[in-house]
Amino acid sequence: MSRPLLEVRDLTLRYETTQGGFNAVESVSFSLDRGQSLGLVGESGGGKTSLGLALMKLLPDNGRLTSGQIMLDGVDLFPLTDDQMRPYRWNRISMVFQAAMNSLNPVYRVGDQIAEAIEAHQRISHRQAMVMVADLFDLMGLERDFVNRYPHEYSGGMKQRAVIAMALACEPDLIIADEPTTALDVITQDRILRQLRTLQRQLNMAMIYVTHDIGVVAEVTDYLGVMYAGRLVELGKTSEVLSRPRHPYTAALISSFPSVTGERREPVALEGEPPDLTMESEGCRFAGRCAYSTEVCATIEPTLVDHLGHRYACWNPLDGVLEHLASHETERTIIESGEVPAR
Ligand SMILES: Nc1ncnc2c1ncn2[C@@H]1O[C@H](COP(=O)(O)OP(=O)(O)OP(=O)(O)O)[C@@H](O)[C@H]1O
Ligand SMILES: [Mg+2]
Repeated sequence: MSRPLLEVRDLTLRYETTQGGFNAVESVSFSLDRGQSLGLVGESGGGKTSLGLALMKLLPDNGRLTSGQIMLDGVDLFPLTDDQMRPYRWNRISMVFQAAMNSLNPVYRVGDQIAEAIEAHQRISHRQAMVMVADLFDLMGLERDFVNRYPHEYSGGMKQRAVIAMALACEPDLIIADEPTTALDVITQDRILRQLRTLQRQLNMAMIYVTHDIGVVAEVTDYLGVMYAGRLVELGKTSEVLSRPRHPYTAALISSFPSVTGERREPVALEGEPPDLTMESEGCRFAGRCAYSTEVCATIEPTLVDHLGHRYACWNPLDGVLEHLASHETERTIIESGEVPAR
């Protein structure tokens, strides 16, 4: 068997703060092949962005990777220095940052900004870089004329396409897209997502797609990972996880999201708050909010177990989604059809 493009093993990222240190990402392991995409979902603060930054090794001053391996094509990035990371960052792994469309510099033409990013990572002239930018604009469905325009002349959707173009510029093997479309209207969001998905397959890139929106993951991802309080608590094929979530947190997330079938209904609030990670705790981090928790949950932390490629960390996994979500018509449709209908 060929080795996966990306193999993350036991990765832990720790932040030090004045309130104490905590692991925003703890013992996370997963792998991803070329041409595959992994969605990462979970509540705010779950560690999704931190995991993306950890893979790029772009950490804030108070963050450090304390354990793990980040194998990219057989090379472990974990021990590499900033200088040694240079050939990997943007060239091999790139990232569309959360709210990146707001980071375009208003006083420079968009084409020049992207060209500069390319020149910083490849030995080519500005003229050659501008030719690449024009090609990238074609690829992302942007008018070539807009290469010479300023950010304020772009709509939100166009800006987002431009920052995705920037992330694609060096033809990375892996692209991490952190909430790339949340600021956009649903129709624009849908168009960009489909395009990103098509490109990801055409270019045979791997993609990690971070979102709050469970509704879009079915459309753009092959695998789905659920993060809670820094842990990956469930991971499997997207259709499998959405139709048969085994972790009560995943089931709660799905049911708290407005219909993924297109029906409109009120989201069900997920009660309680994630734990304060600066406090020492034992047991499952979801136990305090979980309707299924038993004694063991409060004392021993569950580790991920693998059932035919569907992994979950739970002492009392759900058998099927029916029982848990019986009151939600939408989810019943999902179970019965065995798949999530397109939005
Ligand atoms: N530089 C930092 N120093 C200290 N804590 C941080 C830092 N960056 C993030 N955090 C904290 O780490 C935790 C994980 O944050 P992260 O941004 O990775 O979550 P997220 O899942 O991406 O959330 P969101 O869905 O809101 O984007 C949160 O509690 C956050 O407040
Ligand atoms: Mg985030």
